[in-house]
Amino acid sequence: MSKRIEIKNLDIYYDKFKAVEDVNMVIEPKSVTAFIGPSGCGKSTVLRTLNRMHEVIPKAWVDGEVLLDGDDLYGQGVDPVNVRRQVGMVFQRPNPFPTMSIKENVLAGVRLNNRRISNKDAAELVEKSLRGANLWNEVKDRLDAPGGGLSGGQQQRLCIARAIAVKPDVLLMDEPCSALDPISTLAIEDLIHELKTEYTIVIVTHNMQQATRVSDRTGFFNIAGTGKPGKLIEFDDTRNIFENPQNKQTQDYVTGRFG
Ligand SMILES: Nc1ncnc2c1ncn2[C@@H]1O[C@H](COP(=O)(O)OP(=O)(O)O)[C@@H](O)[C@H]1O
Ligand SMILES: [Mg+2]
Repeated sequence: MSKRIEIKNLDIYYDKFKAVEDVNMVIEPKSVTAFIGPSGCGKSTVLRTLNRMHEVIPKAWVDGEVLLDGDDLYGQGVDPVNVRRQVGMVFQRPNPFPTMSIKENVLAGVRLNNRRISNKDAAELVEKSLRGANLWNEVKDRLDAPGGGLSGGQQQRLCIARAIAVKPDVLLMDEPCSALDPISTLAIEDLIHELKTEYTIVIVTHNMQQATRVSDRTGFFNIAGTGKPGKLIEFDDTRNIFENPQNKQTQDYVTGRFG
């Protein structure tokens, strides 16, 4: 089930360094939100706070709230493992387990969550997840072959299948196409378009065409200089960000007059 994310007064730190300051945004269910901005402005950092992956880094911490359908992910007694089950993540480089079979790769997240699952249910879940990731037809005859034998674009779709197999509410993607060729990139973009009927999706991209192609809303982040915290400068419908930005910094960035 797709859920609404609300970020409130969020400051994000690496030890004493404040990497991102005072983020406030609402991300609606069944929509795609893109994060854009120059390298180092904190896009990945913000993304990782949405499933409590940020704090995996030693001495990393946050101040503020991230609400998922009203419940604070950082509230007392909230189990980060449970959060990561609800909010899945796909990374820049496809990271399937290379020697593990395609089928077991899809089930890896489910097995990690310690869910006992019958062979019949497992087979059904594998098919459903691979279909959901637009990969089924390409791999249905070699489910027992190693995941590492797939092309880069197929591996990324395998990682998406693994992420959706645990039935999350939200999917986070950090530059999921940056290691892919243009054809595989389009396949992932089509997939993102289909997945948004079921999930809340947040994607970091350095490719502005990609942001315009896949997202409904876009957040532009920027930094004033080295050592300064990144900030969310403007957040609006993607169309407005690219065609009618309200902020001069956004305008400079989207028209390529940056730096
Ligand atoms: N693991 C880390 N430890 C310390 N600082 C980090 C770490 N990861 C990122 N940073 C810093 O946080 C800031 C934002 O980085 P990042 O979120 O990776 O930016 P972006 O994804 O927009 O390129 C940068 O100044 C970066 O150096
Ligand atoms: Mg990044």
